[in-house]
Amino acid sequence: MNTMRQIAQLGAEILRKKAAVVTDIDSIETRQIVEAMQSTLANTQGVGLAAPQISESKRIIIVASRPTPRYPSALQMEPTIMFNPSFQALSNDKEKNWEGCLSIPGIRALVPRYKDIMINYTDQQGQPVELKLDGFVARIFQHEYDHLEGKVYLDRVEDNKDIFTESEYFKIQMPVL
Ligand code: NI
Repeated sequence: MNTMRQIAQLGAEILRKKAAVVTDIDSIETRQIVEAMQSTLANTQGVGLAAPQISESKRIIIVASRPTPRYPSALQMEPTIMFNPSFQALSNDKEKNWEGCLSIPGIRALVPRYKDIMINYTDQQGQPVELKLDGFVARIFQHEYDHLEGKVYLDRVEDNKDIFTESEYFKIQMPVL
């Protein structure tokens, strides 16, 4: 079954709403949302997706770091589904690096993010998980988490000069990490 959904584009109201806590991880409805997120993400070159991006205002994200033509130096990991995620910065150190978003096609920007974070989420079995993340995966997590708060990465850009079109970005081809 093809459960691919359209990806909400910047300007859509759903991307600016705070998403609702998931209380029914095992329900058919939640499983259908997760399935739709998985197949939608698999059809893109993205490395993460948040439920509001498929117009479901729920606190569900997928973190799926993998090398793609969009992010050639991304590290390989199993796509991880996270319910009701939260995080704490382990230090105030932030690092600027490039991000893009499937909801904002054609644009890349330098975004400051915490380098080291401790994350908490509930997994698909309903079990609590605590993990330390750093570097690119920590960046993906913070980007997807923002979607649950109605924020996009452009909100975090420090200077408009840090915003590039994709064609200009590919001319300089900065490493992602
Ligand atoms: Ni995004």
